[in-house]
Amino acid sequence: MAKYAFTALFTLFAAQALAAPSANPIEKRTPGGIYICTDINWSGECGYKVQPLNTCIHLDDPWYHTISSFGPDQGTSCQMYSDKNCNFPIGSGIGYPGVADMTKDGLNDQVGAFKCHT
Ligand SMILES: *[C@@H]1O[C@H](CO)[C@@H](O)[C@H](O)[C@H]1NC(C)=O
Repeated sequence: MAKYAFTALFTLFAAQALAAPSANPIEKRTPGGIYICTDINWSGECGYKVQPLNTCIHLDDPWYHTISSFGPDQGTSCQMYSDKNCNFPIGSGIGYPGVADMTKDGLNDQVGAFKCHT
């Protein structure tokens, strides 16, 4: 099975997405679009990418076990996993508009992968 990942290259694209997050309403409704940050309240290092649905997306450095905010686009919900291969689910799933502070549901710095659906 093909694996997809947030990579270092992705970080470069993320800078563009960050420049005007609210000036791009079309992206806000993209199924599979995910915004993640390494600190709570959408701070620290952040990135946005549209990911394939119903597919295990594993997180690579700098995202592996570091994310503290997780925001799926409208119409997208995601299950978190502690490992990279979506074998060990954690939490009950996150939908739009997402969770700004994952310390509140015990998921902070725990996510190794996620899988999203519409
Ligand atoms: C995060 O946001 C919440 C709600 O706005 C606020 O109460 C809290 O102080 C913020 N925490 C940090 C570390 O910015």
